[in-house]
Amino acid sequence: MQILPNLPGRNGTASETTSWPPGAPTRNTSEVLAAPRSAPGARATVIVPTYNEAANLPRLVERIFEAMPEAEVLVVDDASKDGTADAARELARKYPVRVIERFHERGLSTAVLRGLKEARTDVCVVMDADLSHPPEAIPELVRAVENGSEVAVGSRYVPGGDIDRWPLFRRVASRAGTLLARPLTPVRDPMAGFFCVRKSLVAGIPLKPRGFKIMLEILARTGATRCVEVPIHFEDRSAGDSKFGPKERREFLKQVAALYRDLNAWPWRLGKFLLTGALGVLPDLAILNLVVRALEGTPTYGAAAGWFVAMSVNHAINRAWTFRARHVPAVPSYLKYALGVLAGLAVRVAVMKALPSWDYNLSSLLGIAAGACLNFLGLQRWVFAGR
Ligand code: GDD
Ligand code: MN
Repeated sequence: MQILPNLPGRNGTASETTSWPPGAPTRNTSEVLAAPRSAPGARATVIVPTYNEAANLPRLVERIFEAMPEAEVLVVDDASKDGTADAARELARKYPVRVIERFHERGLSTAVLRGLKEARTDVCVVMDADLSHPPEAIPELVRAVENGSEVAVGSRYVPGGDIDRWPLFRRVASRAGTLLARPLTPVRDPMAGFFCVRKSLVAGIPLKPRGFKIMLEILARTGATRCVEVPIHFEDRSAGDSKFGPKERREFLKQVAALYRDLNAWPWRLGKFLLTGALGVLPDLAILNLVVRALEGTPTYGAAAGWFVAMSVNHAINRAWTFRARHVPAVPSYLKYALGVLAGLAVRVAVMKALPSWDYNLSSLLGIAAGACLNFLGLQRWVFAGR
């Protein structure tokens, strides 16, 4: 876990060269980072993580300041081999550009967090260096956050947004990833790399920065709900190579799995609920056998007792594990739970009655599925809700 104020790589692992205002002496020590200076007149910081983007940086910076002259640009470069940092320092002679060079750390997500940490304005924009993200959208993103949105997204997947010249494979992979990430956030383009946030939103929130999808991490773990999406036209990069490859894809899957688990997202909860329900046959059959063999009761009594015990066990597991709802009092939730189970049974019977011409196994299965859906929704909305 990483919390913004405690980023590693602070001492001696990075250097910063500041040349704004023009002619100011440049220094190369990490102490420079600690000294808070106000960015002269800056309204927002545009954080640009770079790895081998020397060819793209000049045009990008020019377009950023055309779009928003009150910005400060913060380039976070991971020791690029093509002279990106030098190109950035060259630009800093003319524009309010700051450069952070990291020599002992690599990664897009950690670079963005480093930029957020070093930014001198609360409002920050994050964007790629390769001109995929239109700088012309920056003012609208900034305005949205200034006006109270927690996160503003430069979005490809809202009406008016689109992607230019992407190979079919990347389109499909992007859509599949978006589908996986959708339950974690309220936005339509959770995979975007172009967004605006306040650094105060992120400060103090434990993040696990890995791979490329830092916005997803921020959105999911801050639980931001006030989000706006500004449609953008996503251009394919004009020069250089994409760094998004199989390793980044694997990182993304690990990230999504960790977020599902850590945040108990609804697909994860549903899986646990179904597993609990399926495993409920074990206590059920155990009690049935106990009643019939050891207590010499009838199978009907055994079945009733088994059902009752299984329901009680399932209530306990669902409360503590599936829904993480130990804060909900046990007895009232148990009574509601029992009512819910009966309602599920009623749904099953109703479905069977509604489909008299169907094979009773099929209509029963359909009824069980409908009852389980209703139970799940009822449990999370009504029985285990309220935090
Ligand atoms: N500092 C740093 N360190 N920057 C990096 C690193 C790194 O290890 N790897 C990549 N970058 C920079 C690139 O130089 C570029 O500015 C930006 O991060 C995005 O990298 P690309 O290689 O262009 O990625 P992409 O186009 O495949 O993916 C981008 O677009 C996706 C769709 O919007 C990223 O922004 C993704 O996050 C985004 O989902
Ligand atoms: Mn790109």
